[in-house]
Amino acid sequence: MFGRRGSGAAAAAKPPTSAASARPAPPAAAAAPPPPPPSPAASAQVVAAVPKPQVQEKAPAKAQGRRSEEYYATKAQIFNALVESIDLSQLSKLERDDARDEIRDVVNDIIALKNIAMSISAQEELLEDICNDVLGYGPLEPLLARDDIADIMVNGADTVYIETSGKVEETGVHFRDNKQLMNICQRIVSQVGRRVDESSPICDARLPDGSRVNVIAPPLSLDGPALTIRKFKKDKLTLQQLVNFKSISPEGAEILEIIGRVRCNTVISGGTGSGKTTLLNCLTRYIDTDERIITCEDSAELQLQQPHVVRLETRPPNLEGEGEITMRDLVKNCLRMRPERIIVGEVRGPEVFDLLQAMNTGHDGSMGTIHSNSPRECLKRMEAMIAMGGFSLPARTVREIIVGSVDVIVQAARLRDGSRRITHITEVVGMEGDVITTQDLFVYDIIGEDAQGKIIGKHRANGIGRPAFWDRARYYGEEERLAKALDAAELGGA
Ligand SMILES: Nc1ncnc2c1ncn2[C@@H]1O[C@H](COP(=O)(O)OP(=O)(O)OP(=O)(O)O)[C@@H](O)[C@H]1O
Ligand SMILES: [Mg+2]
Repeated sequence: MFGRRGSGAAAAAKPPTSAASARPAPPAAAAAPPPPPPSPAASAQVVAAVPKPQVQEKAPAKAQGRRSEEYYATKAQIFNALVESIDLSQLSKLERDDARDEIRDVVNDIIALKNIAMSISAQEELLEDICNDVLGYGPLEPLLARDDIADIMVNGADTVYIETSGKVEETGVHFRDNKQLMNICQRIVSQVGRRVDESSPICDARLPDGSRVNVIAPPLSLDGPALTIRKFKKDKLTLQQLVNFKSISPEGAEILEIIGRVRCNTVISGGTGSGKTTLLNCLTRYIDTDERIITCEDSAELQLQQPHVVRLETRPPNLEGEGEITMRDLVKNCLRMRPERIIVGEVRGPEVFDLLQAMNTGHDGSMGTIHSNSPRECLKRMEAMIAMGGFSLPARTVREIIVGSVDVIVQAARLRDGSRRITHITEVVGMEGDVITTQDLFVYDIIGEDAQGKIIGKHRANGIGRPAFWDRARYYGEEERLAKALDAAELGGA
């Protein structure tokens, strides 16, 4: 066995410095450059078996600044000795706490044996750092443990930004060098069976907690690997929370609830990080529990509450470039699975055609999100995506399909002060000549800005007494609630 805590009963009886764990490192190791973390395959095992660290709210953003060269040299010396002493890949067989204890014992022995002068707190810090390197994602760990971060953006070893409460700020977090950063990227993507290197420098992956990861490595990224992580939020925001954040007024939220419930075919439009997926997740809460729902996503983010849900995920090609399953494949397959509603996490390509077909062939209440900055642009994007898919249909026919399929477009936006707002609830009503006609049921007007640069605005209904989905609302017994919400919103909500 590799250490002292690995084998249950024997563990307690072992002397504090076993020959195996305290074997000094070879003299050359002390002068060697910082050692690489364990190989991707071995670390993948380690990481996979290690539960995520406890969530620690609001740790200081600049907790981990650049350390001295001396610190890195000492760490390298101890790390080398540690690698000599224990088989790191075997740590995967232990619980995280046991693995930490194992590392702690060996590191303490090494420090004592090598006569390294260190305060207790410095020793603790070093131990934490080594554990993060061996068991997790190195300097990223403290950021991953925070629940208030939406995105982590690493632009090479020396620059790490985070987004909290809609604001992007630089942290004091650094990697030792681009090599360490690359090793961590490698460790992340190896968990989904991929490699990232010069020959395949772009890679999407997922952390065990569901966070979405993108890596783009040199030579495409010029200043070292660029790593972007969209943190997975276990507790998704609810419509009530969006109301509390003033992303939408209570009346607007009620209209959205009704739209979700009465099976309007809905497209959520918005820019990157504007809150599309969050909004989609909110809308799905109002789907009746007896409906059969199939979700298709690139990376499973939605958390549906209903019991009858089938979740599907696309698959990127493997190293040989084979085995890819696209969103289009999934949406097409969905239609053979007797869905009542189809929910597509993100519509980016020709799958829009299949989703629209599903929407107007009896799968009312299907939903998807599209990257676009206004409801009008969203319509154009859908047309463009159909054209890009190689369907040679006349423009008018494409528009007719869109009009026949989509009932409502909900627009999300991230405003310049970092706040997220629902800016439009727009109905797709018909065609006038060759042009699709829409009507805004509900909009957000920007009025001005306060002294702190926060945007002041107001949500209001547009005075449309009978939306195009009125009959649908009546069919589901929701017309009274809808009329009340529209009247209240017209009088001026939040
Ligand atoms: N109304 C809101 N108020 C505050 N935070 C929000 C709001 N909506 C979403 N967020 C947060 O913003 C982040 C991004 O949200 P989300 O993933 O829904 O955006 P997205 O538009 O789907 O992004 P992408 O374009 O990358 O898919 C998440 O951390 C989410 O919790
Ligand atoms: Mg999204």
